[in-house]
Amino acid sequence: MNNSVAPSGLLGDTAARDYSGKLKLFNAFAKPELCQSIAYLEPKPGMRVLDAGCGTGEVLDWLSATVQPEGMAIGIDLAAAHVAAARAVASRGTLLVQADLLMAPLAHASFDLIWSANVINHLRVPSVGVEALISLLRPGGSIALGQSSLLPDMYFAWDARLERVLNEAIRQYYRDRYQVNERELTAARANVGLLRRSGLRNLRARTIMIERMTPLRDEDKSYLVDVIFRHAWGPRLQPYMSSDDYDELSRLCDPLHPDFALNRPDFHFLQTFTLVVGER
Ligand SMILES: C[S@@+](CC[C@H](N)C(=O)[O-])C[C@H]1O[C@@H](n2cnc3c(N)ncnc32)[C@H](O)[C@@H]1O
Repeated sequence: MNNSVAPSGLLGDTAARDYSGKLKLFNAFAKPELCQSIAYLEPKPGMRVLDAGCGTGEVLDWLSATVQPEGMAIGIDLAAAHVAAARAVASRGTLLVQADLLMAPLAHASFDLIWSANVINHLRVPSVGVEALISLLRPGGSIALGQSSLLPDMYFAWDARLERVLNEAIRQYYRDRYQVNERELTAARANVGLLRRSGLRNLRARTIMIERMTPLRDEDKSYLVDVIFRHAWGPRLQPYMSSDDYDELSRLCDPLHPDFALNRPDFHFLQTFTLVVGER
């Protein structure tokens, strides 16, 4: 065992952890809604923006495009593999730093805009992360915390019962794997309170719906099959479901089975992405 490895975050993040494949698929899938969310923040050329927990860097690159040519975009992430993936897609004027955002080697009060999506809920003490990020904002600068719903709001539109059973199985799996409780799993609901308590001004929230139905784009199919059906669900849920429900789920998730969900004309998928924005 390597004792030099830092303790992991609430959801297991370390410098050595790599889920870059999953992040890339999510960003390709949700690109239209993520770009809509960036536009909502009205970034301007010349701004200095930070993507805190930038993952594989696609959003950082889209943010960067809005502040160029005079502006600067910096991405910071704990994971070496994620930073390497982000460097590979970074355009000119975009800098990447591999570091813990709780100890960011960045000048205080130096950013006009901070974006941090699906990151704060990975920290053991989210309020400490929010305070660290706010200290990097210049007075009058804005911070936007983005959070997608942990569980999609609808994936099997024709079978609410199976969705309920499946949601409970996923929650139970997360509770066992990360030893987190129900409150910690519903972090998407905490961001308004977090920013309110940190004393920011002009708080606002905006939820954008990621909605898909057949015919699906290739990006949609790749995300739904690889990230949700195979990675998030799959055999890991078997112990948490009855064998009949698990068999039904397996048929719906199997691209080679006649019941494959993504081939159904009534397939209809909903997942929210919520931005909470405040000014220093
Ligand atoms: C769910 S991913 C989201 C990535 C990216 N924001 C996106 O939306 O695609 C969470 C990211 O936060 C990073 N992360 C977790 N804890 C961190 C910390 N303390 N400092 C910096 N990055 C961290 C992880 O390495 C991972 O890349």
